[in-house]
Amino acid sequence: MKHLPIQEPLIKNDLAQIGASSGNLIDTFGRVHNNLRISVTDRCNLRCVYCMPEDVQFLDSKELLSFEEINAFVKIAVTRGINKVRLTGGEPLLRRDLSTLVGFLSQIEEIKDLSMTTNGMLLKSQAMALKQAGLNRITISLDTLIPERFLDLCKRDGLAQTLEGIDAGIRAGFQSIKLNTVSIKGINDDEIVSLAKFAREKQIEIRFIEYMPIGANPWEKAKVMPAHEILEKIDKEVGALVPATNYDPRAPAMEFVYEDGKGKVGIIASVSKPFCQSCNRIRITAEGKLRNCLFALEEIDIRPFLRPEVDTKSILTMLENSVVSKWAGHQFNTKEFIKPTRTMHAIGG
Ligand code: 5AD
Ligand code: SF4
Repeated sequence: MKHLPIQEPLIKNDLAQIGASSGNLIDTFGRVHNNLRISVTDRCNLRCVYCMPEDVQFLDSKELLSFEEINAFVKIAVTRGINKVRLTGGEPLLRRDLSTLVGFLSQIEEIKDLSMTTNGMLLKSQAMALKQAGLNRITISLDTLIPERFLDLCKRDGLAQTLEGIDAGIRAGFQSIKLNTVSIKGINDDEIVSLAKFAREKQIEIRFIEYMPIGANPWEKAKVMPAHEILEKIDKEVGALVPATNYDPRAPAMEFVYEDGKGKVGIIASVSKPFCQSCNRIRITAEGKLRNCLFALEEIDIRPFLRPEVDTKSILTMLENSVVSKWAGHQFNTKEFIKPTRTMHAIGG
């Protein structure tokens, strides 16, 4: 069997290498934080079992940060080196007039990359407006191509609508479109090959994510489909792969290209090869809680500094405090791991 090396993450986000300065958000491990993920709603039109419970209690709309509040926060964060922003949810397209927020954020000069993660269900009617408002890239979640399995896994009947969303995204002409697949042993690992072929035919990248302990259902390590097994399957049954040469070592996905030049596969080995050492991300939840890790047990409430009026100085202090208190990494491979009380939909994927 061919050995496909899973690259070692960069040990540190070297300041000089990424052109950062001491004014940036740097933690005690030397990691520079330039990447902000903004959840715009905790609501979702699906109930993927690995993500959220069926009987979930959503936030009241008054609790959500307004677009103006989000915009004000981002304008402050960019002064400390944030230059990549991703909109997430829940399902971000459930937030009414999302393209208005995209329009605000795309006016912020410092932001070099504005992207969104969506389940694609509502993309057909919104793709064009989002593109026109300045959204650069989208990632669409797709775990199965079998309608009954979609219903089992996402608890709603939505495969056809998701596939239409993917096509609409492709037509809208974003700078890039990717698919995200959470591969779970015994659930959808038999579709690795068909999903990879689907993406290759559509000429879009697909990223397989190892199943993480962040959803509502009990997680078992035995259900994690390890990255190297995924890669070996694709290499053997879809097309020979080689490591991509121009991948970003700070990004969570390790990238491979087909030897014939037709397509790309990403692997997010969050469990078998954690990329915490090169993490450059901070998050803000839909109600304005700042989190320094997907698995953080503590968060900082920013909303009181945005509402009723913006207190820039305090927000800068909170950003610094959050980054400085960041830990080395999650502990899912140890007994010490404590699952956060928030599930994925309420954090922002
Ligand atoms: N493990 C891995 N990925 C997950 N996501 C949601 N829950 C999990 C989990 N338990 C992914 C979704 C989506 C992104 C927002 O996060 O598939 O692509
Ligand atoms: Fe919704 Fe995404 Fe969670 Fe599925 S993974 S329930 S699409 S937020």
